[in-house]
Amino acid sequence: MNKILFKPYLHSSEDLNREQLNAIFDKAQYFIDNYNPKEKFQDLAGITVALAFFEPSTRTKLSFELAAKRLSADILTFTSSGSSLVKGESLVDTIRTIDAMQVQMYVVRNVYAGVPQLITQKTGKITLNAGDGKHEHPTQALLDAMTLKQHYKTFENLKVCIIGDILHSRVARSNITILRRLGAEIKLLAPGTLLPRYLNPWDAETLNSVDDAIEWADALIVLRLQKERMDSGLLPSTSEFAKFYQITYEKFTKKDRIVLMHPGPVNYGVELDYKLSELDNCLINKQVTNGVFVRMAVMSLLANSSE
Ligand code: NCD
Repeated sequence: MNKILFKPYLHSSEDLNREQLNAIFDKAQYFIDNYNPKEKFQDLAGITVALAFFEPSTRTKLSFELAAKRLSADILTFTSSGSSLVKGESLVDTIRTIDAMQVQMYVVRNVYAGVPQLITQKTGKITLNAGDGKHEHPTQALLDAMTLKQHYKTFENLKVCIIGDILHSRVARSNITILRRLGAEIKLLAPGTLLPRYLNPWDAETLNSVDDAIEWADALIVLRLQKERMDSGLLPSTSEFAKFYQITYEKFTKKDRIVLMHPGPVNYGVELDYKLSELDNCLINKQVTNGVFVRMAVMSLLANSSE
């Protein structure tokens, strides 16, 4: 079998074809099957990874950090608060400073779309996008797809409904591309003001209610209201949104063959009823566990199989 090659970056979900997606899932499964907490993998031995998080993050940052450690990388962690960015240093100078420490791989999160591409341009090093503005979050979509593959075994005819604040969601963008590329069917459910306004770039059908979404879908991917990226006036109130779009325990448990996913952070009481988190078909913690192995797979494949 020919070795599958990867670009030396993952800026967007568009960077991965179906063959590469399956190679990532196979590699992640290999790491799941062979994981031994007492013995690290050597895939990133001798490689310094900079985790450059210019925007807050809990699970994505911890997940990449653990993934890099399990592959024996050396790690530099950078967060904007407490750095010279607050003293007026520019983003480009900050990157040049980090790069002068001989970094081979960047994992980047930034409020602005396009910063991962900028880092690739400025440094020529392997760059992974860990979320850039409203644009893309490809590794989140990969771990979501891996979680669905584990549960349903195949993507053919799999029906996935993405629900909530789609307009501001980089997770929705990345998921639509990747899940469709794998063969899944996508529909959307959101208030009209939280869908891309003048055109629906994905040409995805929209559903009208939570009941319709549950009836149609094999999986729900639910998103929080991303207020930090939202103009005012898009919603009458949070409680109004919750009244019409919250996945309630009563509605969700009407159907057996369905799973619930959410990239986190969850605002329980708004988009999800807390009681749902205790159900076996709520896969939120599975997503987090898979996230580490999927990120190990992406880092290993990009470091060792780049074109
Ligand atoms: C998401 C993000 O930051 O884009 N969370 C994550 O990475 N797990 C989703 C969000 O912020 O709502």
